[in-house]
Amino acid sequence: MAKINITVCMGSSCFARGNQQNLAFIENYIKEHGLDADVDLAGKRCENKCEHGPNIIINGVEYKEVTEEKIEEILSGLAVK
Ligand code: FES
Repeated sequence: MAKINITVCMGSSCFARGNQQNLAFIENYIKEHGLDADVDLAGKRCENKCEHGPNIIINGVEYKEVTEEKIEEILSGLAVK
């Protein structure tokens, strides 16, 4: 399985709009599914796209207004071994 790269915007707007919970959700998801070695998780600063936040980039694809449901949908599609 190819590595999954996840970059979470940690700017104050995205963080307040949901990335605080989203980050916790991702960390949990990684743990529960034993994906530690398969996921590169990083944070980034605000890129002035706050109005569409919370923003998360997964494997180079920029997702906007991300919810936990959305993350689960994306990761379950990618994390199939
Ligand atoms: S805080 Fe995420 S784009 Fe500004």
